[in-house]
Amino acid sequence: MLLALETSCDETSAAVIHDGRVLSSVVSSQIKLHSEYGGVVPELAAREHLRNLMPVTTTALNEAGITADQLEAIAATRGPGLPHALMTGFKSAQAMAFALRKPFLGIHHHEAHLYSPWVSGKPLAADFSAFEPNISLIVSGGHTMLVHVQGELKHRVLGSTVDDAAGECFDKTGKLIGLPYPAGPEIDRLAEKGNAKAFDFPRPMINDPADDFSFSGLKTSVRYFVRDNPALLDTPQGISDLCASVQSAIVDVLVKKTVKAARRLGVRCITASGGVTCNRALRRELAAACQRNGLKLRLAEKELCTDNAAMVGILAERKFRQNQASDSLTEEIRPNWSLQEERVPA
Ligand code: KG4
Ligand code: ZN
Repeated sequence: MLLALETSCDETSAAVIHDGRVLSSVVSSQIKLHSEYGGVVPELAAREHLRNLMPVTTTALNEAGITADQLEAIAATRGPGLPHALMTGFKSAQAMAFALRKPFLGIHHHEAHLYSPWVSGKPLAADFSAFEPNISLIVSGGHTMLVHVQGELKHRVLGSTVDDAAGECFDKTGKLIGLPYPAGPEIDRLAEKGNAKAFDFPRPMINDPADDFSFSGLKTSVRYFVRDNPALLDTPQGISDLCASVQSAIVDVLVKKTVKAARRLGVRCITASGGVTCNRALRRELAAACQRNGLKLRLAEKELCTDNAAMVGILAERKFRQNQASDSLTEEIRPNWSLQEERVPA
């Protein structure tokens, strides 16, 4: 039995994992708190994590029907993320491990996203027997990357965003249209009633041979488009058409580049995770493109797309069973930890 904590950004989360099964997963989102400011305020996030960690952890233990002394190991997100936010969960988990005299594991947040598509069902459980090498798209508010997962716990970053992340592009264009933060889910909702071909926005780097992304140019072109066509925002249909067209530009780039990487590397499976993977158009278009190209697709369950401790715990337990607990209670957080540096066993 393993307890995992996740506090890298604006979700305070705790989960209890047993043999690849999620016994409990509690997420307290701070979205309401930060939406007032139009984005995550790091100091407020850290304070809120400190307030939430005890109740969230207690609830996770209660829902799993266990007490702390039954835990075999404790894990927490070590990075990347907001320094003060990371520190709250990471240091709390280390303190628990110290007090309970149990092993501790510091987990890479992106690596946890990477394996989250292999967790599914009700109740949620990991199925690594179905695992196969894949190209994994991680898309959220803070990151957009393509990773070649060659084997279990063996991966190589192919490319990432050179400026804004895909979720950031959703959020910033939403702000220009006057939508509340985070705008991704709202754009998704409004786009369903819109015409994706109404306006033609650029698809940055879509044909670039590299696997990197760039979304800040798209955001800028939306800004100029809205400045030059202000009347568009006066009608619900205008707003929906705009949302559908922007969303389609983002989704096209993500889908085309992911499939291209899989074909180039001869990989037969694609996975996707991270907050933006909740997007219905992205899920639809990835499914259609995979079908056209004879590729298998595994999308993270929606509840595991946004940040959560369950994915951290699933990966941590996997590592724990392979004797990869770090033992070091003096380890520090790594706010800028790159996935490339995450050492994999030979
Ligand atoms: O993974 P996540 O919860 O946090 C980060 O690590 O960033 O992702 C949050 C991001 C936000 O930018 C949000 O707008 C976006 O995911 N998002 C969506 C949708 N749901 C969440 N973007 C587009 N469509 C959605 N349905
Ligand atoms: Zn994340």
